[in-house]
Amino acid sequence: MRSAVEGRQGEAALLREAALMCRVRGHAHVLPLLNFGLDHNMRAFVETPIAPHGSIKDLLDSLEFEGRLADFGDAHVEQVLAQVRLALAHVHAAGMRHCDVAARNALVFSFSSQPPAVEVKLCDFGSARALRPREAMEGVDGLEAELRELLK
Ligand SMILES: Nc1ncnc2c1ncn2[C@@H]1O[C@H](COP(=O)(O)OP(=O)(O)O)[C@@H](O)[C@H]1O
Ligand SMILES: [Mg+2]
Repeated sequence: MRSAVEGRQGEAALLREAALMCRVRGHAHVLPLLNFGLDHNMRAFVETPIAPHGSIKDLLDSLEFEGRLADFGDAHVEQVLAQVRLALAHVHAAGMRHCDVAARNALVFSFSSQPPAVEVKLCDFGSARALRPREAMEGVDGLEAELRELLK
């Protein structure tokens, strides 16, 4: 997926995000950066793989629309939380904090209801920043609460 933005501030933010994504590249549960730079119109772009189901929020919205929300059960929630925890540990080890862990920022690359299986990758490093000294690792409590709310 290619993202581009209008305006110098947006372009600077996009390139900052690309630089942060470079630092956390190579983890199974972090969205890989495929390319970034300036296009032929000198506009900034970043390129990443496309997640077929969009974000977890997108997937749950579709399941709800289709009356199939029960297809996403506790086993899926546990898998998502475990994978995002691994991604956050990797981000932390790279000296960064994501700062926007949410259902719309975890992209779903595969999903099966039975047997329950879901694969997610953390995306959107637009709010990420450097770790502060002795700062604890970011948790997934907020994401868990959000998922429980969406599944009600
Ligand atoms: N690679 C991708 N594949 C599929 N959907 C994506 C992808 N990247 C972003 N999206 C969709 O676009 C939304 C916004 O993307 P995001 O990178 O989080 O930007 P923003 O800074 O606007 O929140 C995501 O919540 C998801 O629905
Ligand atoms: Mg986002």
